[in-house]
Amino acid sequence: MNPPLLRFESAFARVLVAALAFGLAGMFLWAADSAPSTAAVPEKPKANPHRDDVWVLPVGEPVPPEGEAAEPLRRHCALCHSFDYIATQPRLSRTGWAASVEKMRSKYGAPIPTNQVPALVNYLVTNHGKE
Ligand code: HEC
Repeated sequence: MNPPLLRFESAFARVLVAALAFGLAGMFLWAADSAPSTAAVPEKPKANPHRDDVWVLPVGEPVPPEGEAAEPLRRHCALCHSFDYIATQPRLSRTGWAASVEKMRSKYGAPIPTNQVPALVNYLVTNHGKE
């Protein structure tokens, strides 16, 4: 046995053990920090700061206007979408509205009898047309 070497060895070993301990502690801290933590979720959600804001939604016009002329629209178009939806579309020519009504029938399955189409197109051209 060589006492000086032993002393050196034991000092070296102590440094080594200390370094390992620090390293491990560091790794644990790092892992704990990066793991999802439930402590981040507040127990009570914050009050909504916009809670008292006044919300005014645009006033819709979900049904066509009263009157005989709009009757075909009420009967055949309001079935699927609001009258607004039709009224806010770009104005179309007679050909355009005829094609649109035909599209509702053929593509979207609108149950519109053929003999109702002229009245519908007339109404649309008169009120939302560009002729
Ligand atoms: C069977 C249901 C149905 C009926 C009835 C119906 N539509 Fe539609 N309509 C649709 C659907 C579906 C769309 C497409 C909506 C979308 O794109 O989000 C649409 C869209 C439209 C559009 C927007 C332009 C376009 O071509 O997408 C117009 C204008 C329109 N319809 C007019 C009419 C008119 C006028 C009538 C009555 C003659 C009518 N619709 C009846 C289902 C219908």
